[in-house]
Amino acid sequence: MKLTSQMPSWTAPKLVGMPSTPRQAIGQSLQSLLLVAAENLYPVLRKMPNSSAPIHHRLAVKKPSGRAHALFRHRPSIRDIRTSRRKKSEKCKLCVRFEVVSGSKFTHVSSRSPPIDAHVLHAKRESSDQPPLRSIQVAMITRLAISGYRSLREVRVTLGALNVVTGANGSGKSSLYRALKLLADIAQGRIIQSLAAEGGLQSTLWAGPEAFSRAMNAGSAPVQGAVRKYPISLKLGFSGKDYGYAIDLGLPPPDSRSKFSSDPEIKVESQWTGEQLDRTNVFALRVGPGVRIRNGQGEWQQTYQNLDAFDSMMTHCADPHHAIELLMLRERMRDWRFYDHLRTDRDAASRKPQIGTYTPVLASDGSDLAAALQTIREIGAAEQMDVAIADAFPGARVEVISTDGYFELEMRQHGLLRPLKAAELSDGTLRYLLLVAALLSPRPPALMILNEPETSLHPELMPPLARLIAQASRRSQAVVVSHSPTLVGALDADADCRRVVLEKHLGETVVSAGAPPPDWAWPSR
Ligand SMILES: Nc1ncnc2c1ncn2[C@@H]1O[C@H](COP(=O)(O)OP(=O)(O)OP(=O)(O)O)[C@@H](O)[C@H]1O
Ligand SMILES: [Mg+2]
Repeated sequence: MKLTSQMPSWTAPKLVGMPSTPRQAIGQSLQSLLLVAAENLYPVLRKMPNSSAPIHHRLAVKKPSGRAHALFRHRPSIRDIRTSRRKKSEKCKLCVRFEVVSGSKFTHVSSRSPPIDAHVLHAKRESSDQPPLRSIQVAMITRLAISGYRSLREVRVTLGALNVVTGANGSGKSSLYRALKLLADIAQGRIIQSLAAEGGLQSTLWAGPEAFSRAMNAGSAPVQGAVRKYPISLKLGFSGKDYGYAIDLGLPPPDSRSKFSSDPEIKVESQWTGEQLDRTNVFALRVGPGVRIRNGQGEWQQTYQNLDAFDSMMTHCADPHHAIELLMLRERMRDWRFYDHLRTDRDAASRKPQIGTYTPVLASDGSDLAAALQTIREIGAAEQMDVAIADAFPGARVEVISTDGYFELEMRQHGLLRPLKAAELSDGTLRYLLLVAALLSPRPPALMILNEPETSLHPELMPPLARLIAQASRRSQAVVVSHSPTLVGALDADADCRRVVLEKHLGETVVSAGAPPPDWAWPSR
């Protein structure tokens, strides 16, 4: 692999995270290669924000036999960037060019340039003295689609780096949170068990009619069911700039011999490149028990014929040689982090001393709080942690005391003669510290989802919490489910915040006015 730069004024950046062998490179979709390369251009863009000269970046993958050629160009201009107050002189053009030389044909090649304006925006935002951030845009979910799950009959939302989901009681916020959790459960291989824990497929399915007639919507006809046109189905999907994934679950065909006739089955799964599924960009497809995956030359290969209906292709077919994209997406989904009602009651584990080990990721019950805060202090953003704590509790500082390997939290507060132990802190104070530990994790995930983080926090703490979340959303995509107007208002103050307001209409969750729903296509059975 050879990297050449056609720009004399800058040196080509070292490629990080690029595929290590030409075979691997050719096996990957060009689009994801381009995104990785764009990520590598950050430092360059940061150094030359005023230049209007195009940057040429060329990657050549050589194989002795013959050649195939692919070229991508993208020139985002200042118009692509949301903040309009920027100076004209800051105009920055980017052109990423790929040459892939190989003996085989390239059927994946698309001349459509992926939108990389977000990268440019991101790069421009960072001041040159900060270390380069991970490109959350590469791993970011931009579209989420749910169909037939509880009150989410047909919901599609566009997501950004920072999202706040809000709405009245019963509007469907928790259902949206749970739908994301179900998607994460697919990557852990426990989607069927999770549905069972929710009462089984029948109880989680949308309980209303398959569709509403115009008269039902207008209120001139009662809501009633009709003969179903389509089979029972619960569908979940998401996509980002690089990949998309969708799953369709249904009921097994009636079988009087089996006691599992109400056990959900995975009917279809699909993974594709880019945001929108179409006929040309699918590269892994499961229909019933059969799984087909495209090889490096773009040809379909039947990799599984007898996949059990309760096993996902994500867990059973992902492998580094034949399905690297499945593997990459699965690992990313496994890393999604959910924080839901972190316990702060008298018996909460976070109030007790715990054996301390390096803890870059706070446990979902917050039990390892002291170790997580100490890990941030030693290998993470110690200064940001102190600032975030002082932002909420002026003059306060948190220390971790170690006794015989047991870590315990102590908080020094303004006006007190001795520090208070975790067991003595108020619920709200402890919850805020848990959120600090979660949000400043030295190992940020691709996606962090917080369900009602405002619980037991005083309204005065909402602005510091919103600042903390906004800061974290620069390293991990963040989805915050909240019905605190103060927190929603404080998050909204961030220019990047996307508000998703849910409403109930005839028992169905609808996304209220705002951006139109994104285009979405489900894989067919
Ligand atoms: N299978 C189903 N079909 C249709 N609607 C359902 C189904 N199961 C639950 N619901 C309804 O979905 C609605 C949304 O519930 P959800 O728990 O997501 O609301 P929420 O916005 O989180 O409310 P809260 O603010 O009270 O927590 C509820 O009104 C519930 O009655
Ligand atoms: Mg709820």
